[in-house]
Amino acid sequence: MNDISDDPVQRQYEAYPYPARDPAEETTRLITGSPSHPLEIDHFLFGGQRDWSRPFRVLVAGGGTGDGLIMLAQILADNRVDAEIVYLDMSTASRRIAEARAEARGLTSIRFETDDLLNAADYGVFDYIDCCGVLHHLPDPDAGFAALRGALAEDGGIGAMVYAPYGRAGVYEMQDALRVLVPDDPPEAQVAHTRSLMASLPPTNGLHRNPYLHDHAHGGDAGLYDLLLHSRDRPYTVGELFDTLERADLDFVSFTTPGRYDPRLMIADPVLRERAVALPYRDRAALAERLVGNIKVHAFYATARGVAPRIATPGPDAVPCLVGVSGSALAESVYKNGFIRGEVDGVGFQRPLPRDAAGLLMAMDGRRSLDEIRSATGLLRGQFDDLLAKLYQPLNNFGLMRLSRLKRFGSRS
Ligand SMILES: C[S@@+](CC[C@H](N)C(=O)[O-])C[C@H]1O[C@@H](n2cnc3c(N)ncnc32)[C@H](O)[C@@H]1O
Repeated sequence: MNDISDDPVQRQYEAYPYPARDPAEETTRLITGSPSHPLEIDHFLFGGQRDWSRPFRVLVAGGGTGDGLIMLAQILADNRVDAEIVYLDMSTASRRIAEARAEARGLTSIRFETDDLLNAADYGVFDYIDCCGVLHHLPDPDAGFAALRGALAEDGGIGAMVYAPYGRAGVYEMQDALRVLVPDDPPEAQVAHTRSLMASLPPTNGLHRNPYLHDHAHGGDAGLYDLLLHSRDRPYTVGELFDTLERADLDFVSFTTPGRYDPRLMIADPVLRERAVALPYRDRAALAERLVGNIKVHAFYATARGVAPRIATPGPDAVPCLVGVSGSALAESVYKNGFIRGEVDGVGFQRPLPRDAAGLLMAMDGRRSLDEIRSATGLLRGQFDDLLAKLYQPLNNFGLMRLSRLKRFGSRS
C-alpha cells in the first residue's frame, strides 16, 4: 500500500484544487475535452464499434476537481450505459468539489476514493483508465504508468495527458526563478509575490513571449500556482513519451489530434516533405513537435502491449459523430465559402469541398451509419466515398469527427 501523507504535491492540491471549479455552474454547462470523451474512447480504443450494452468499468486516476470525470459520467448516463466509475485522487479538497459537481448533476455511477494512483490495482481491473495532467507530477512517473497498466483489462485502454516542453517555453525558467525567490512562503504569499513579480518583468521574459499559455493570466490563483509554483512538474518530448510507454509495456495508439503531429502540414519543400514522410511514425511526430513549437501537452491513447490496434475506420456501418462543431455550421461553410476549416493553437486545415458535401454533413446526426447517410443523400457510392474521404481525414485529425455507435445506442427506445 503506497502512503500519500506529507507529499508536497498533495499539500498543493489541498490548498489549490485545480482547475478551480464552481459546482453551481453544473446547471449551465458541461465541460468536454480530450482525452476521455466517450466518443473518442470508442473511436481510438474500440474500433468505433464498442457494444455499449456491456458494462463499462472506468478509473479516473488523479480525477482532481472532476472535469474528465463529470464529462465521462454525464455522457455515459445520457446514453444509458451501465457504467461504474472509480474516482481516485489524493487531494480531499479536490474530491469535495468533484463530489459536489456529481451531486449537482444527480450522477450516481461514481465511487469516490482518496488514494495514491500507485494503488490503482486495489480497485480491480478497468476497461478504460483516464489520467489527465497527473503522471508528470509523480515522484516516479514510470511507477505511475506501470500502476495504470497493472489495473487495465487486457482489452482495455488508457487515455492520458502529459505536459510537453516546447509549448511550455517560459514556464520552467520561471519555476526555477520562483524556487529561489519564494521558497518557503505560505501558498497565498507565493501567489501574491508571483503576481507582483510578473507585473514587473520585461517583455523579453519567456512567459510574456509565449502567447499560447493562459493559465497564469486566466486560471485564477489555482491556475497560477499550477503553472508556475508547482513543486513537481516534468514535461515529455514525443520521444520521451514513447520511451516511457515502452518501459511500461504499453503500446501507443494515437494522439487525440494526430494532425498536430503531422510534419507535412509544416513543410512545403517537396524534398524535405519526402524525407519527413519516410520517417517511422515516432520520429515523424517528434519532428512535427520540434517544428510546430507550441505543443503544450500530449493527449493520447494507449493499450496494453500487443493488443491489436483498434482505431476506427470509416466503413459502411460506422457512425460518424461531429464533436464540438455542428453539421449545419460546417454545411453552411461549404455552401457559402466552398471549404471547411479548423484549427488548434494556430495550426489547422482548410479543405475545399463541392456543394454536395453540405448534404452529407447535414445528415451526420451521430446516429445514422455511413450507409444510411449515403442513402439519405442519394449520392452514388463512388461520389460519396470521395466526399467522405475529403471530409473525414481533416476533421478526424483535428478532433472534430469520431466514429462511434454510442449515441445510436443511447437513442434506442
Ligand atoms: C492538474 S490536476 C488534474 C486533475 C484532472 N485530471 C483534470 O484533468 O482536471 C492533478 C491531480 O492529480 C492528483 N494527483 C497527483 N498525484 C497523484 C497521485 N500520486 N495519486 C492520486 N492523485 C494524484 C492531484 O491531487 C490533482 O488533483
